[in-house]
Amino acid sequence: MAKILVTGGAGYIGSHTCLELLNTGHEVVVFDNLCNSSKIALERVQALAQKPLNFIQGDIRDMQALDQVFHDYKIDAVIHFAGLKAVGESQKIPLAYFDNNIAGSLCLVQAMERAEVFQLVFSSSATVYGELNQAPYHEEMPLGMPTNNYGYTKMVVEQLLEKTALANPAWSIALLRYFNPVGAHKSGEIGEDPQGIPNNLMPFVTQVAVGRRSKLAIFGQDYPTLDGTCERDFIHVVDLAKAHVLALENRLNHTGCRAWNIGTGKPISVLAIKNTFERVNGIEIPFEFAPRRTGDLASFYADSTRAYQELNWKAEYSLEDMLADSWNWQRKNPNGFNP
Ligand code: NAD
Ligand code: UFG
Repeated sequence: MAKILVTGGAGYIGSHTCLELLNTGHEVVVFDNLCNSSKIALERVQALAQKPLNFIQGDIRDMQALDQVFHDYKIDAVIHFAGLKAVGESQKIPLAYFDNNIAGSLCLVQAMERAEVFQLVFSSSATVYGELNQAPYHEEMPLGMPTNNYGYTKMVVEQLLEKTALANPAWSIALLRYFNPVGAHKSGEIGEDPQGIPNNLMPFVTQVAVGRRSKLAIFGQDYPTLDGTCERDFIHVVDLAKAHVLALENRLNHTGCRAWNIGTGKPISVLAIKNTFERVNGIEIPFEFAPRRTGDLASFYADSTRAYQELNWKAEYSLEDMLADSWNWQRKNPNGFNP
């Protein structure tokens, strides 16, 4: 079993992945500056796993702090989640995104090279396919130009990692291209806890359900889709967390840089999310149609055949599970990790 450094491990996807790592017998060292997360998530992960993990509060742009971690712990591999992820914010403050996501990743990779740790799993995004490719997206497609600065940082880091692996065959890097992560651990102890007004659909829906927001605005009803609303490939966060463990184990036995799509392959519309949430959870979600949101694509979903063939991974949770588990988390924690 391996000792894994998890940057951004206190966040939404990171905390679920830490739990899967502990449950599969790995040791975990979390490195997170807590700019968008809470230490309570890590306390709950340890309680659920009934195993401890190590936590260091630090920033991936702090070279000395990173060197210290690699000095103090005999790390075998890194899963890199740390970064900023709000698409709208990335249009307003691009330099903060370039600094955190691109310069931060560079700092981490340099520290890994100094420490001679060459196994890395990176959180990428379906956004790297850009607007020119047609769904379903598969990994052989050329990268497109992402429609926003956040997506651009993911594309740049992917390219930077590919070139790094090409130059030194010691590297073994997984690029996991997530589609739309939703849901929460069945216990309802950990889940997505956005600060302020949620940008993403699912936390907005659950905050309407719990009474924190009055109604959902559905952005656009004239897209060329079956019901006129956008379609996305929603993936349960526990399925996504499991993909990280499998990608990590794959990387411990391979070299080079390899991309995998992590999605269900099923396009689900925004309106279907609202309607299915109401049916599964027995709660009405008041809503209105609003104008299209800039930068949204009509429809995107994954071809995840490669992840199935090479990682033996496939999504197991249904849409109903995703919506029930999202609600279970929000219902039990109306204010997220805040008391
Ligand atoms: P999150 O904000 O919940 O988690 C990110 C974590 O990184 C947080 O705990 C935050 O405190 C930490 N962090 C941010 N900047 C840091 C820094 N400079 N140094 C140390 N820690 C830092 O987000 P998430 O949804 O769990 O996403 C995790 C990763 O997956 C991100 O890289 C994100 O871009 C990527 N991703 C997310 C989605 C999504 O829809 N959630 C989709 C595709 C890709
Ligand atoms: N939507 C609404 N109302 C809301 C929020 C969202 O109608 O209040 C709609 C959006 O217009 C979109 C769909 O719900 O059609 C999904 O929107 P999200 O913001 O939840 O997700 P995106 O598909 O826009 O973005 C996600 C991740 C990004 C990633 C991108 C591509 O949040 O990190 O997928 O992978 F870059």
